[in-house]
Amino acid sequence: MKIRKAIGPDLNNLLEVERLAFGNVEGPQIVELVQGLLIDPTAAPILSLIAEHHDRVIGHILFTKARIALNEQIPAAILAPLAVVPDAQGQGVGGQLIREGLRLLSEAGVKLVFLLGHPDYYPRYGFKTAGLLGFEPPYRIPDEHANAWMVQELGPGFLGSINGKVLCADALNQPEYWCE
Ligand SMILES: CC(C)(COP(=O)(O)OP(=O)(O)OC[C@H]1O[C@@H](n2cnc3c(N)ncnc32)[C@H](O)[C@@H]1OP(=O)(O)O)[C@@H](O)C(=O)NCCC(=O)NCCS
Repeated sequence: MKIRKAIGPDLNNLLEVERLAFGNVEGPQIVELVQGLLIDPTAAPILSLIAEHHDRVIGHILFTKARIALNEQIPAAILAPLAVVPDAQGQGVGGQLIREGLRLLSEAGVKLVFLLGHPDYYPRYGFKTAGLLGFEPPYRIPDEHANAWMVQELGPGFLGSINGKVLCADALNQPEYWCE
């Protein structure tokens, strides 16, 4: 399996991955989100990676720009969404996309990465509950899902020393994307 940055001609294939991974109910909304983020100037810089197996795109991960209110000089990103086609799930593809994404973001100088996702899945890749560390999500998350809002630092010295409300790209800044 190969992981590489997505380029223009990959668009239809990566949208198909989103559609298949998220299914008929959530899929159309996620496809719309990805399409919106890819052309949203407030989402830049973006990092869009695909996983390929025998020339078939089987996974996609997207990171877009985040800002921390009153700490806007700190480079930050949000992971959303991550998708692996159903027949390739459970084989580590998602994990490899996360790790490679974090490696490239770190190289690019990003210091903090946020996400709203499954609290049983992302901690194994280093994510921690962000609310407890003083980071407020763009939209309020119900208390019972508070641990789905997570953060990871890519360099030492940020967690515990800064906090604030996290602001996301316009295309992601819709309440429907913030109800875990
Ligand atoms: C979530 C997803 C990206 C994981 O990709 P993957 O390639 O299957 O993940 P990996 O192989 O790296 O890891 C598999 C592990 O994740 C766990 N996992 C998968 N989906 C999970 C979920 N929704 N909640 C908790 N754990 C989950 C599996 O149980 C498995 O655990 P194990 O290693 O203990 O057996 C993939 O299942 C997917 O695309 N799901 C549909 C879309 C989605 O929910 N995206 C995430 C949005 S936050």
